[in-house]
Formats: sequence, structure tokens, C-alpha cells
Amino acid sequence: MCGIVGYTGPRHAYPVVVKGLKRLEYRGYDSAGVAIQDLVGPIRVYKKKGKVAQLEESVIGEDIQGGTAIGHTRWATHGEPSDRNAHPHRSASGKLAMIHNGIIENYHQLKQELTTKGYQFQSDTDTEVLLNFIEEIQRNNNCTLEEALRVALKRVTGAYVILLLNEEDPGTIIAARKGSPLVIGVGQHEHFLGSDASPMLEYTKQVVYVNDYELAIVRPDELILKNLGNETLTPYIQQLDLELAAIEKGGFDHFMLKEIFEQPKTIYDSLRGRMDTTESTVTLSGLETYKQELIAANRIVIVACGTSWHAGLVAEYVFEELARVNVEVEYASEFRYRNPVIHPGDVIIAISQSGETADTLVAIERAKEQGAIILGVVNVVGSSIARISHAGCYTHAGPEIGVASTKAFTAQLAVLYLMAIQLGSWRGCLSDDRKQLLLEELATVPEKAQSILSKSESIQDLSLRYESARDFLYLGRGYNFPVALEGALKLKEISYIHAEGYPAAEMKHGPIALVDDQLPVVFVATRDAYHEKVVSNMQEIKARKGRVIAVITEGDEWAASLTESFIEIPACDEVIAPILSVIPLQLLAYYIGVAKGLDVDKPRNLAKSVTVE
Ligand code: G6P
Repeated sequence: MCGIVGYTGPRHAYPVVVKGLKRLEYRGYDSAGVAIQDLVGPIRVYKKKGKVAQLEESVIGEDIQGGTAIGHTRWATHGEPSDRNAHPHRSASGKLAMIHNGIIENYHQLKQELTTKGYQFQSDTDTEVLLNFIEEIQRNNNCTLEEALRVALKRVTGAYVILLLNEEDPGTIIAARKGSPLVIGVGQHEHFLGSDASPMLEYTKQVVYVNDYELAIVRPDELILKNLGNETLTPYIQQLDLELAAIEKGGFDHFMLKEIFEQPKTIYDSLRGRMDTTESTVTLSGLETYKQELIAANRIVIVACGTSWHAGLVAEYVFEELARVNVEVEYASEFRYRNPVIHPGDVIIAISQSGETADTLVAIERAKEQGAIILGVVNVVGSSIARISHAGCYTHAGPEIGVASTKAFTAQLAVLYLMAIQLGSWRGCLSDDRKQLLLEELATVPEKAQSILSKSESIQDLSLRYESARDFLYLGRGYNFPVALEGALKLKEISYIHAEGYPAAEMKHGPIALVDDQLPVVFVATRDAYHEKVVSNMQEIKARKGRVIAVITEGDEWAASLTESFIEIPACDEVIAPILSVIPLQLLAYYIGVAKGLDVDKPRNLAKSVTVE
């Protein structure tokens, strides 16, 4: 969380940095700020509570000239969102300015040390503490800022990406990383820095992904990479495979809507080249190296957070059904702090859109230390989880910018289906006929997704009937139970309506008490092995005057007759259903959020990339 941007070179740095910050607002939007430096004169800092647009308004008439700048968009951890707590922070001498993404866990102890030395703090942040700690080391040791930073970071526990400006060294940005992402873009006589590559896309495609415990000294004509032991490293420059159009709205009102509508293509992209219905084959090169270990695995543990965790729940059903392997799905945040029993040879699948979620990252680091094989199902190429995994499959959904995840979820499902089919086939649990049928079903998903999207207007109309509801219940069974959870999460995230997802049968053990003539109850009730049971549950809600909304299979008049509203999706195999049945729920949540006049791309308090635990 928090987005950071930096620029040094011949351009005006401020517009480059502010444009970059807007692209990174998905990482947090509690406040924004910039520090600007010219070849002479003091560093100027401007910062404001709220979004980047508010910062822009606040700097009208100010001096924003300069070829070097750092900028920050904040997701608050230490200290409320306010001008005072916004980054950049200045050191006590006023000569250093710093931005930070992450948490300094031992900041309290460092603050006490500094307070006894007479330091006073202008903010409540851990960042200002670290900055003054660095300055104190520099003053005491009479050393360079780089040396002081290296000493300071050895004392720090927690996660950070920091960017530092020094009044006495104009044009230089010093950066360091541990546990949060940092990308450096290499241009002609200029360098760019960012939490991801989006701020630098229109200027360069040459990028360096900085690793943990590395430090970069960045000048217009120079990029020096070092480790904390002061050894110089050779930057590994990679070519970015990303187009500007992928991170723009392309005529849609919101990124979320654009991303929902991209799904026929993104699902296709995640399947493309990986399956062949003529030959009835799946090719996941990432898995080949671990074929024997996967066949022999006693169990698979899936770790993830948020929407990715819901994809993991679907995968649990699918892997158990198709590959007859024991699967456990864990919240990464719980798994990492338990003392889980991991045997060498256990397979851990980490699912993550960003590839940077702190809890998921640490969970797999721990499991890896204990001998588990780590497979990543990750969207962002080159991200930390992708890099630490032994192998895996990228989801190829392209950049997801809307904070509420949509296309990443369906791409995760597409990849997980292929993994389960491959594993089932390797383990001899999946018949050739079933495999062929599932591959054919998967091949039709993009077209079926398109047909669901073509009904978006009717879903929008339907949403207006429920916009003022206070609570929602989402129910589903079997493969559609995780979809009910995901539907409820989408609604909560962007409409702020309280929503709960439940297994349809389990609702009798509690949630049914909430049912009255005001409560919308959304059933994910496509035709499958449990269909009659789900329809009975619909009857039970209807008998209590609940307002039944259902996602049903096209032509299912029986289920439709029990509803106040229904949305049809094309018929499909029950295993594949979640990748389609979730789409109407994404649209329903989106349209309710829009009808309530909310900023669906940037819901309050949320961030897309959760790099703090
Ligand atoms: C945040 C995002 C969610 C996402 C979750 C896990 O909460 O707002 O959309 O599902 O993090 O993120 P990951 O990048 O690991 O999938």
C-alpha cells in the first residue's frame, strides 16, 4: 500500500510525478504529496489530505520547478489521514525529504531514542522517525547519506521502500527496498522510480526490479545498485511488455467496468497457448519441472487473501474433484502466524493478483524454508511472489486498476482449472472423456462471458431496485458457494452495503433470522448436482418474504418463478460455472455502487495492494 514515484532528469519533474501518482492511487488515496528539487535552492514540499487531485489544486501558484522530484500517495497506517501525516516528510534539519511505503515495526523504540536526544516530531508517522534516525546517524558519524542509510536500515525491522532527497546533493534520489515493490525505469539521461511500472510507461520500457535489501543511487545519467553490505551490483535491465492503453480507461466510466468487460479477452488470454482441444492437452510449462513432486504430493495448501482467497476456495473443490488430492485453503495472514505442519514435498499454491500482498509473501517464505514446493498463480509479472515461487503460472489478465478485483479473479480461475485438469490427468484420476469435455467447456467460456456482458443493461435496471437495501445475503452451494462469498465481498467493497456470503444450506443455522421483506437474498443457483437443494433453499427464503434474486441457468423457469429478479447465464458444466456465475454479481455490485454515487474505483479505506500485514 502507498504508492511512490520518483523522477530525475531533464524534464519538469512535477508533472511526471503527479501523473505517476494518479496511476498509483489504487494503492491508497488518504493523502498525496511531492518534494521537488532544482539544481540550486531548497527542497520544496507540498502535501495535502485527500486524493492527488486535491494536491494539484493546493499547489496552484506555488513554485513547482525542478528536474528532480519524489511523490507519494498514502494509505494511512501510523497516524490519521491529514496534511501533517502526509508524505514527504522532512528531517529535523530540513535538508532531507523522504517518502515511504511499508511499516517500520520498531519505530517506537527508535522514536524513544531520538526523543531522549531532543528530537521533536511534526507527524505521527513511523516514516518521520526513520528519516530523523538516518539524519542522526549521518550527523554522529559524519558520513554520507548513503552510508547513514545503510547503517540505519540494519537497525530497522519491518517493510519499506523509501526514496530520499538530499538538499546537498541535487539531482540524486536514494532508494532502498525491503518487502515492498520498487521499479526503476531507465531512460535517456533520466530515471524514473515507482511502486510499479505504470508511472514510467510512456517514457521507457527498460526497467530494473529492485530486490529486497538493495539500495539504489539514482541520478539522470547514473544508476548505481548496491546491497546493504556496500557491494555494487549489476542492474538487470528488463524489457517491459505492457502498453499504455492497458492502464487507461478506454472510454469506460470506471476502471472496474472496463475490467469487467475485458473478461472475455482476459480469460481467453489466460487459456491461450495452454490448452488444445483437438489434442486434448494442457501445457503449463511452469508445472512440468515439478511433475513428479505434484503427482506424489499428499496435499496442496492454497494461501491467499481477499478475492484471491475466494479463487482458492473454488480451486479446492476443483482439485479435489478432478485430481483427488487433499486441498486446504488458508488465509495467508492466519497461516503465517500459526505453526502449521508442513512436510517437505507439500505443495503450496500462492494466489495473488499483485504478487506483493505482504501476508501471502511471508506465508510462502516460511513454507519454502520448511521444504514445501511453492507454485505461484500471480498476475503481475516479476512481482515478489512470482519471484520467490519455485514455479507457477501467470494469469495474464493485464494491469488491474479498479481496487475491487474482477478480471484477476476469473483469470485465476481459468489458470486453476487448467492446473487441476493437468494434475488430474497426471495422477490418472481424470478420464480422457471428462478431460476433453472440460477443455471444450473452458474454450467456450470467453464467448459465454461475452453473452452475459451483453445483458449488462438489464442488470443495471435490476440494481436500481436494491440500491437502498441495508443488508444483503448471498447464498450458494458447492462450486457456487465461493461465488456467493465473492459476490458479497464485491458489494461490501464498493457500495458499503453490509453483505454476507453463506453456504445455502448453512443459512438455516443463523442468517435466516435476518430474513424479512426488506432483505435481498442473492442465490447463485445455476443448474448443477445440488440444484434441487438450492431451489428448496430459495423456497425457504421466499416463504419468509425475503426478496429473492438469483443467478440461474438460461431457461430455468422453475428457479425463475421463485424470484423477485433473476439473471440468466448460459448453461455450462458445474465445475466451470463459477467463472461465469460471478460476472453478473460483479456487475450488480458495480451498478449499485454507481447508483449510490460512490467512487467505485477507489472505495474508502481500501487499497489494491496490501503490502502491510
Ligand atoms: C486487497 C485488494 C483485493 C485483493 C486482496 C488480495 O484487499 O483490495 O482486491 O483480492 O488485496 O490481493 P492479491 O494482490 O494478493 O490478490
